[in-house]
Amino acid sequence: VNGKIEIPVVFNVLYRTAAENISNAQLQSQLDVLNADFNAANADFNQVPALFSGVKANVGITFVLDQVIRKSTTKTSWGTRDAMKKSKQGGINPTSPTTKLNFWVCTIGGGILGYAQFPGGASATDGVVVDSKYVGVTSNTGASYPYNLGRTATHEVGHWLNLRHIWGDATCGSDLVADTPTHNTANYGVPTYPHYSTCTGAPVEMTMNYMDYTDDRGMYMFTAGQKSRIDAIFISGGARFSFAQ
Ligand code: ARG
Ligand code: ZN
Repeated sequence: VNGKIEIPVVFNVLYRTAAENISNAQLQSQLDVLNADFNAANADFNQVPALFSGVKANVGITFVLDQVIRKSTTKTSWGTRDAMKKSKQGGINPTSPTTKLNFWVCTIGGGILGYAQFPGGASATDGVVVDSKYVGVTSNTGASYPYNLGRTATHEVGHWLNLRHIWGDATCGSDLVADTPTHNTANYGVPTYPHYSTCTGAPVEMTMNYMDYTDDRGMYMFTAGQKSRIDAIFISGGARFSFAQ
């Protein structure tokens, strides 16, 4: 990677109700969260326990607003099979997906907050989907609590940048990163520190990592190992090298 990575962001907003047609200010609040979280500039970064101070990392990726595309629809929910990414299915095709990160903002349904495509997949479906209720920062009393701090997008962009869930999607599974502890499974809510794993060696779990499943206020760090995994996709031959140009 030569120099700083700057990712242009396209927001594709699909709305039926006024509430789903979230404002540009709300979208900007989401970009601000991404820029804070991926640059260790989030206000809660200093809450990382001393145990993890040696591995907490500044990923160093900047997100820049490219454009907002809005489309009204009669659909009440879009599911998780990429219909929102296809104009033939009433959605919006991605804009320049090999050089821009496309977000789709819509009602997903089924209790799903968001989902992302890993590097290496089809360009036509590349990007991140976040349910309209969980985009950006909203008040602590809104319907979106406890997912009201924009961390769904941080988590999903983590996947888009090749990060796995910290528990490796299996009991005591691997996230292919060496400096994260082995987690039993996903954590929810805001676990009390220290939360011990029952996996080999009984490590303290890093429940405050963005790639766990805690509430938004419970997640506030990436690690150096996660940063290395991200950096690797931007080098020549890497799956997102086209974004490093
Ligand atoms: N893909 C996950 C889901 O839909 C996202 C979890 C995000 N977590 C959060 N605290 N915002 O369940
Ligand atoms: Zn996930």
